[in-house]
Parts: sequence; structure tokens; C-alpha cells
Amino acid sequence: MSQFDKIHTVENNFAKSNPNYLKGMFGTTDVMPLWIADMDFEIAKPIQESLQKLVARNIYAYEFDTENVFKAITDWNVKRHQLQLDSKRFIQVTGVLTGISVLIKELSDQGDGIMVQTPVYHQFFKLIESAGRTVVSNPLKVEDGHYQMDFEDIERKLKTLNVKVILLCNPHNPVGRVWTKEELQKLVTIANTYDVTIISDEIHADIVYSYAKFNSIASIVNGKNHIAVLGSPAKTFGMQSISNGYMYIPNQETQQLVKKTVTSMYLDHGSILTANATIAAYTQGEEWLDDLLIYLEKTLNWIQDFAHNELPEVTLLKPEGTYQVWLDFSKLSLSDDALEHLIIKQAKLALTPGSWFESSHTQFMRMNIASPLEKIQQAFYQLKNAIDTGLDISFNEAGKTENDCSC
Ligand SMILES: Cc1ncc(COP(=O)(O)O)c(C=O)c1O
Repeated sequence: MSQFDKIHTVENNFAKSNPNYLKGMFGTTDVMPLWIADMDFEIAKPIQESLQKLVARNIYAYEFDTENVFKAITDWNVKRHQLQLDSKRFIQVTGVLTGISVLIKELSDQGDGIMVQTPVYHQFFKLIESAGRTVVSNPLKVEDGHYQMDFEDIERKLKTLNVKVILLCNPHNPVGRVWTKEELQKLVTIANTYDVTIISDEIHADIVYSYAKFNSIASIVNGKNHIAVLGSPAKTFGMQSISNGYMYIPNQETQQLVKKTVTSMYLDHGSILTANATIAAYTQGEEWLDDLLIYLEKTLNWIQDFAHNELPEVTLLKPEGTYQVWLDFSKLSLSDDALEHLIIKQAKLALTPGSWFESSHTQFMRMNIASPLEKIQQAFYQLKNAIDTGLDISFNEAGKTENDCSC
């Protein structure tokens, strides 16, 4: 039995299982919560021990250890991604979304266009719009069973629209693409031609399966160096509620400009619990992560076989990274409300509605699979049972699901 097989109680205070959230999002609490991108697994032992040691001191005077955090991140990137970063170019921020928000405000003006590859992590839209910038959508296309970036569309829009930033998601949430070096090189070349900065959200960088390879935008040959990388141990080590994020900006001038803003708002203060947990994760968490990746890939293979053999009506494009699966239900030929009813009320699953990631993706749903295999299998059995049974006769065009959760 694997350590990841253990089924833990999911606390009511976790956002994913909070009854108020569930009621608000899905109209019921009688659902298995597989919607938020966090983990049901116990964190790695060295992280637990480091937190416990700190808690046991019972004294919490001001304490900072940012230098060792950046050293741990730098060493990790050399070891895991063969990427040498300059530890002087990091900036600590409270979270990745905070970092993106600051960068957008620093690198563009009101009304400027920020390009995103849609469908994409829904908080990107909120970040862009709340900053008074304009979302410029670059829809992904499916070719040869893979989501691909549409480079012609990117170039056309950079040429004709007032785009200042490309906000890239790598690995991509929700479709699970891990962009290749060639794709990233192509993107950088186009961005440089039109003097556009690439902000690369790489929070899922370490959740990459054996058949793919992660490349940071920071590893790409780049004459202008108009890039910023965002990262965090949150997704990799299941530290969603206790981790900071960091920015990495190789261009010294830009880095100093952004750092000035971040420090002026004290956004880089951090917490020593977070700092110690981060150091423990990056210096002693590798074995745990390797085991996790094997476990997740086994889960993915099980899902793929089950979907292929038992659920021909559900299309799954196997992800290369992230612990999200992006399910296409369009072959069921149900109305959007009927699909919602089938998934929520009949299969009793709380999945993230595809429309959050792009309004037309109403026939898609994202499922988080960072749970014990037994639980994921149960979810798929419930799904099959609901599909085989067919839509309830009691179905009466239920109300729509609203997105008002900030997670
Ligand atoms: C692509 C992406 N970026 C950022 C976040 C959130 O990061 P943080 O909690 O550090 O702000 C998530 C969480 O799901 C995510 O998927």
C-alpha cells in the first residue's frame, strides 16, 4: 500500500468541502469535492517535521530566511530542471496570483491588452479585468489529439491589438499541456518582435509526467529578456494554504523596478513557517515528490483505461502535467443545464465547470485527481452509473453554477 492510498478526513473548513461554498457553487453539499486544485495527501515528512519543530518553540519573534529560501529554489531548479538561475533575481511575494497582479500593473497601463491561451485558469481573467486591462484571448486548438498554441493568431493579435503582456500558463491549467522548448522558443521570438513581455506562471512546473519534460521560459534563448517567472511550492508539495510565491525576473532593471513596488507594499515579508516549510520541501522533499508522480501517473493510466473501456461518451486528452483532468462531455449531447444536473445531482461530483476557464466551454469539466486512487475510482464509477442510467426524469432545467470562490 502506498502512503498516498490513505484516505484522510476532508475538513469542513477546507475551501473544497466548505458547506457554504459547496451550496453556493453546486447547490448541494451532497457531492464529492474534486474541484479545487489542491491535495488530499499528507505532506512530506521533512516538511511536517520542520513545521512541528517551529511550532514547538512557542515563540514567534520576527524571523526571516529569504536568502535560504532562494538558495533552496535555485538548487532545486538545477537538480530537477537543469536550470541555473541567479539567486539575486528572485522576489518573494505572498502568492503567485499576488505576483502576477503586481507584474501586470508594473508592465502595462490601463486599457492595455493582456493575452492568455484559452481555456485557462479562471483567476487570470479576474486579475486582468480588475486591473483595468483587457483580456486578449488566444484560443488553443486541438491538433493530433493535443492542445496546441495558435502562433498565427498570436502574431496577428500582437500586430493589431495593443497587447503588452502574454500571461502564459506552463504547465497549462486546465488542459495539462507542458509546452516544449520549441513552442516556447517560438513564443519568445514573436513576443520579442513586438516588444511584449511574457509572464510565465510555472506553479505546476514539478507536476509533469514521465512522458513529458518541463522547460521554464527562463531556459529559452532570449535576446531581450522580457520575461518574468512565477513559482511556488504550493502545488508540488501540497502546501496550498501555507506557501508563499516567488517571482524570478532575469532583467536587472525590471527586477529592481518590481522589487521596489513589492517592498513598498511589504508584500515580501512572508512567514517563517512558510520559509522553513519551503526550504524543507526543496531540500528534502524530492523522494516524496518522485513517489507522488508515480502514484499520480498510475491514477491517470487507470482513468484513461476506464474512460476508454467504460465511458466512450467522455473524451479525455491525457495531460502531460498538473493533477487536473479536462473532461469533454459533448458527445453526451445534453444541454448545459442537463449536463450540470447529471454530474452534480446524479453522479454527485463537484467538478470545476469548464465555463470558468472560457465561457464557451460549457460541455467541459475539470477534475482534480490528487486524491487516493480508491476515491478517484469511486468518482468514475458514480459518473458511469449516472451516464448509464440517463438523465433523471425529475430534471427541470436547474439553475446555473456561479463562480464566486477566490481559489
Ligand atoms: C495556474 C495557477 N496559478 C496560480 C494559482 C494560485 O496560486 P497562489 O495560491 O499562490 O496565488 C493556481 C491555483 O490553482 C493555478 O492553478
